[in-house]
Parts: sequence; C-alpha cells; structure tokens
Amino acid sequence: MSKFLAFPKDFVWGCASSSYQVEGAWNEDGKGPSIWDTFVHTPDHVVNGETGDEAVDHYHRFKEDVALMKELGLDAYRFSVAWTRVLPAGTGAINQAGLDFYDRLVDELLKHKIEPYLCLFHYDLPQALQDKGGWPNRDTAYAFAEYARVVTERLSDRVKVWMTLNEPWVAAMAGYFAGVHAPGIREVPAAFKALHHLMLSHGLAAEAIRSSAKQPVKVGITLNLNPIHPASQSKRDRDAASRMDAVLNRATLDPLLKGTTPIQEFAIGKMLSGSLIKPGDLEKIRTLDLLGVNYYTRTVVKYDPKFPVVATAQIHPEGKEYSGMWEIYPEGLYELLRRIWKDYFSPLPAGDESAVRVPEIMVTENGIPVPDGLDFDGRVRDERRIRYLRNHIAQVHRAMDEGVPVKGYFHWSLMDNFEWSLGYGQRFGLVYVDFRTQKRTVKDSGRWFADLIHEKGFDF
Ligand code: FCB
Repeated sequence: MSKFLAFPKDFVWGCASSSYQVEGAWNEDGKGPSIWDTFVHTPDHVVNGETGDEAVDHYHRFKEDVALMKELGLDAYRFSVAWTRVLPAGTGAINQAGLDFYDRLVDELLKHKIEPYLCLFHYDLPQALQDKGGWPNRDTAYAFAEYARVVTERLSDRVKVWMTLNEPWVAAMAGYFAGVHAPGIREVPAAFKALHHLMLSHGLAAEAIRSSAKQPVKVGITLNLNPIHPASQSKRDRDAASRMDAVLNRATLDPLLKGTTPIQEFAIGKMLSGSLIKPGDLEKIRTLDLLGVNYYTRTVVKYDPKFPVVATAQIHPEGKEYSGMWEIYPEGLYELLRRIWKDYFSPLPAGDESAVRVPEIMVTENGIPVPDGLDFDGRVRDERRIRYLRNHIAQVHRAMDEGVPVKGYFHWSLMDNFEWSLGYGQRFGLVYVDFRTQKRTVKDSGRWFADLIHEKGFDF
C-alpha cells in the first residue's frame, strides 16, 4: 500500500546549477579566463575535447530558463557567479558588465517569485590567481573575500542566501590531487594546502558578506559528503573506512561545525599543519547559517597499502545498481543526514557560548546522469530519473521523520549541461537540452517534480 509522504509547506524545493556548466559566453562582455577555460582548451582533458565555451547558452537564454523554473513551480534556484565575470583578473578592477548579468538574473528570478541562492565559487577560479599559485597559495583565500564583498555590495539588497563555496573538497582533491579537474595538478601537499585555504576562504568571505550586506543574510556552504562503508567487517577495512571518512567528510564538517580538523591525523597533515593552519584560522572557519549537503553515492572502501595517504581503496560491489558515474544508493542520503545530526548536533551544544548556532540543513544537490533522448513524439520518458527521485526524496522524508530538520531539497540539475571532464555525455537535467540547437524540453521527471512541488509530497 502506498502512503502519501507529506512535506512541510515552507519546505524549499529548487534546482541547482553552476556558472561554467551552463552559461557559455566564456569570453564575452569583459570576462577574464578561469582555470576551467584553460583546462578545457588543453588537449586530452575532457571527453571528446568538449568545452563549456557555449555550454547551454544560459548567459543569453536566462529569461527562457527562468520561465522554465516557473513552469516547474520552483521556490528557489541555486546558481553560481563566475568570479572572472566580476573580477577578470581575480582581484582589482571590477567588470560592471559581468555584475550586470547577475543583476538581471536576480531580478528575473524575483519577478517570478523564485528565491536566488547565490553561490560564489563553483570551481572556476580565475586563471590569474592560479598563475600565482591558486588555492595552495594562502593569498587566494583573501582574494576570495574581496570578491565576495564586491558581489555582496551589488546584490545583497535582493539576495538573502549566500553560499560561499561548492564542494571545497572536490575543488582541492579533484583539482590538485587527482588532476581530473582544473587546474589538473597531481600533488598531495598542494591538495591539502588547497583544502585548508578553501575552508579559510569560507570564513573570510562570511565575514565580508555579513559586514557589507544591505539586509540580514544567511551565509552557507555546500559540501560533497558520502557515507563510507567498509568492504568487510575486518578491523583493517573498518579502520580504512574511518580514515576515508576523516579525509572525505570530517575534513570539511569538523572545521565548520566543531572548530577542529582531522588533517593532523595524517602524516602529510602533521607535516604541513604548523605552517599551514595559522592561529585563529579554525575559529574563522566555524561560521555557518546554512549547511548544504550534496549527495550522489556512498563510498565502499577496503584496506590497501598501495595508497600511502589513507591506505584505502574504493571498490564497487557486485550486484548493485550503477549510473554512468556512481552506485545508486538512496539509503545513503538518510544515513548522511542522520549522521550529521547525531554527530554534530545531538545533544545540542547547550549553554556553550562559543558553540556554533545550528545551521539550517538542506540537500543542495542530488541527481542522476541518464542517457536521455527525445522519443518519436518529442517527449523524454526518463522513468529511471523519476525512480531515483522518488527513492531519494523518500529518504529525506525518513530522516525528517526521525527528527533531522531538513529545510529544502535542490535537484541537480535544472537542465542537462557540461559535466566537467565528462563533457556533455552525462545528462542530469529535469529539462532536456539539444546541445546543437539549444532547444529545451521538459522531461517526464520535470513534470513529476512539478507535481511533487504542487502537492507538497507524493505517494510512495
Ligand atoms: C557535483 C558538482 C556539480 C555536478 C554534480 C554532478 O559534485 O557540484 O557541479 O558536476 O556533481
């Protein structure tokens, strides 16, 4: 028997996107180059040599896209600002034309009663700052705060929710350790330095946003988090899972919510921590009104001494369901939300003046890549995504039933777009995009999501 899973009236339903993945117009109206412009224009970095030069042309089609959001009934839209539209060289001279674009986008959203959730950084670091060392250079964190202030001064009369960073862990590890994201560097110390400076930049930017905002605002961050499961119950595998958890989850959660860092648990961290983490840094990072959780999959790990930093290797268990990128594991979203609540807020840090206020918790990304296509009648029947959505949103409901105060859910993504080094092959949208003509078509999943928003719940 199915049951109606009801969500509170004020629950925020939205979609997420990012500047580089949708905007295109990579060198228009005074925009400076970002590390992603450089990365995609270097051979062998992206599948089929694809680039975000045009992406889905959101820069020119944003009105049409906002109309689609309206059609779906979204309460909110999470997007990112391209740093180099605003400050082409990363610091210094302001490019008003770049700010004008976000000004128009925000006005268009508000005109349709869609709340802008503005994220200041979604991987597209100015190339000029990378040339000076990028995130491994501490100065970049201060440059980010300067940029945050410029955008806040222009848009905070209308934008109330400010997200500093998207997935600092991915920016540091995929960009400076695995090298599969821009700037394509493969150095362990650089990655750890990048991660600390990204976290520091959150704290510095939060200060800049709050002190220059024209009205009371919320400052948040978005983290990639995965439940980590040991491949077996052996002590070695369980220890490996706990090390992986420290590197992947606690490395961002602990500084934000506890004012500590697990970095020192690792040899590399011990080596760096004195020179890297300066007095006062951890206090600065610990500031948050909104914790955004991005959830896609779990990570199953086993002990493997071949990987010296954490001595764990990821495995992909047999007999599970997979997408083009990851294992599909809906329960993981529940596990994660419950774990955050249990480990960081329960019991609540009562009476401790120094304790962080409990931030709002929202799912800020969740979605599945499906090789969708138009059927003979022009419809996109993406049942697999609908199943994914049902199963994952049911797990959000389950966590809420158990007392975790989740306040919103943002689907990744509104439209099919440029999936970083995987190019255009991985379609995540509720809206199908013909990448040749840029024609948009709402998929069946988009209609399902619109019904859910309208009904404030669904039969499960
Ligand atoms: C997240 C990123 C987002 C998108 C999805 C699929 O890690 O934040 O830009 O690539 O994965």
